[in-house]
Amino acid sequence: MTFGSEAYERAWLLRQTVLRAPLGLTLDISERAAEASHRHFALFTDNDELAACVSMVPLPDGQAKLRQMAVNEIMQGMGLGQKLIRSVESLLASEGFCYLYMHARQSAIGFYQKLGYRAEGEPFTEITIPHVRMSKTLSTASRQP
Ligand SMILES: CC(C)(COP(=O)(O)OP(=O)(O)OC[C@H]1O[C@@H](n2cnc3c(N)ncnc32)[C@H](O)[C@@H]1OP(=O)(O)O)[C@@H](O)C(=O)NCCC(=O)NCCS
Repeated sequence: MTFGSEAYERAWLLRQTVLRAPLGLTLDISERAAEASHRHFALFTDNDELAACVSMVPLPDGQAKLRQMAVNEIMQGMGLGQKLIRSVESLLASEGFCYLYMHARQSAIGFYQKLGYRAEGEPFTEITIPHVRMSKTLSTASRQP
C-alpha cells in the first residue's frame, strides 16, 4: 500500500480498531510522518474487505522491523495473519532482506513462534502492555512463493 493511499487509510482505521481501541488508546497522528518512509502491506478478501495489515521499517544491512500487525477481528484465527507475514517475508527475502524483528505483544508470542521467530531478552512495556523482542533470519527458503 502506498503511504497516504485509500488502502493505507483503511489500514490506519483497522490498526486503530484492533491495536489501540482495546487499550483505550488512539494512534498518534504524529506517527504518520515517520510512516512515509516505511512500507505498508495488506491482505484483502475477494470482496475487497481489508483482512490484515502490517508495516515494515527498512534498516541498514538487510534488516527490517515489522510493526503494527493487525487482523480484522472477525477474521482472526483463519490463517490470514500467517499468510500475510509469509508473503511479506517472501517478498523481502527476494529483495535481499535477511533479518526481521519486531516488538511482539506477549499475547501474540505464540503466533510469531509458529512462524519461526524467537523471543530475545527481557519483556518490556510498550503502549501500556508487555512486549518482547522477537527475530528471525530469513532463509533462502523464504524466497519461495
Ligand atoms: C495475533 C494476530 C496477528 C494473529 O493473526 P491471525 O490471523 O488471527 O492468526 P492465524 O490464524 O494466522 O494463526 C496462525 C497460527 O498461529 C496461532 N495463533 C494465532 N494467534 C495466536 C496467539 N495470539 N497466540 C498463540 N498462537 C496464536 C494460531 O492458532 C495458528 O496456529 P496453527 O497453525 O497451529 O493453527 C491477530 O489475531 C491479531 O491481529 N490480534 C490482535 C492484535 C495483535 O495482537 N497484533 C499483534 C501485535 S504484535
